[in-house]
Amino acid sequence: MKRAKITIIGAGNVGATCAHWAASKELGDIYLVDIVEGLPQGKALDLYEASPVEGFDARIVGLNSYEETADSDVVVITSGIARKPGMSRDDLMATNVKIVAEVTRSVIEHSPNTILIVVSNPLDAMVYTAWKVSGFPTNRVLGQAGVLDVARYRSFIAAEVGCSVEDVSALLLGGHGDDMVPLPRLTSVGGVPVSQLIPAGRLEDIVTRARNGGAEIVGLLKTGSAYYAPASATIAMVESIVRDKKRVLPCAAHCDSEYGVGGYFVGVPCILGSGGVEKVIEVELEPKEREMFNASVEHVKELSAATEKLLAG
Ligand code: APR
Repeated sequence: MKRAKITIIGAGNVGATCAHWAASKELGDIYLVDIVEGLPQGKALDLYEASPVEGFDARIVGLNSYEETADSDVVVITSGIARKPGMSRDDLMATNVKIVAEVTRSVIEHSPNTILIVVSNPLDAMVYTAWKVSGFPTNRVLGQAGVLDVARYRSFIAAEVGCSVEDVSALLLGGHGDDMVPLPRLTSVGGVPVSQLIPAGRLEDIVTRARNGGAEIVGLLKTGSAYYAPASATIAMVESIVRDKKRVLPCAAHCDSEYGVGGYFVGVPCILGSGGVEKVIEVELEPKEREMFNASVEHVKELSAATEKLLAG
């Protein structure tokens, strides 16, 4: 069977860690691209040299150009600048729109049929940028946000209950981090509603911590932002696509009639398979949840309008 071809743009913390997870899961051959000369080559070689020890077979190539990325099955875009303490995700906007637009043009020139997974922040604006610039159908452009937010939420719940992280099942909707919409009524631990295990006030604290999960790590690291969990979340999406697993994962996906969004990328549960976003799953929302979701969509609309302006200028 032919190995999948996975290209990762940006060989910084998130990109290199994506390569690491993807290689260790033997998801395919990996092409790591960056503008810094030697960086992707050095990291790719280092990772390849770990393969005999770890026992994975993959071609891992570092590049400063796009020719060799031709006909990638999936392209992950992590290039851009990361947050420093005191910066919001939106502060990265102008710089990262330019970078993501330029990278998308180069990617699609060589891989016109690929599936684009955008990770760069502010996520909701970057996925919109990649979609606009690529002109791809909406099933082939998506953003990573929800898997990470849910992972943070699940890990804090497991720590609180003292149970395995595997047994916490949860769903969040809406934008990344600050804009996420928690759905405690759909959160369970081994099938038991979380409300029976964690008091409401405590659960609210956990939601807040998950919402601010990125800022918490930025505050601790001081020189950059999170990368282990963001990369792991991204590779869960890549895996579902290249292995056609059809997992149900929360992604920033294009919603038109879905949830009445009207043509924007928002965090919703999706079936991910070889066709990319194969289906957006609609959850019936209660009035308070709907209110939060709508507020989240409004912020996405503002970001998308600002993105349009930057792309036009
Ligand atoms: N083409 C390719 N690579 C680029 C380009 C470009 N035009 N511009 C920047 N890069 C590369 C940088 O050289 C750097 O190696 O992107 C990489 C970014 O890596 P880091 O600075 O380590 O940032 P990282 O922590 O990986 O975060 C990347 O993901 O989660 C988001 O908010 C985060 O937007 C940020 C992105």
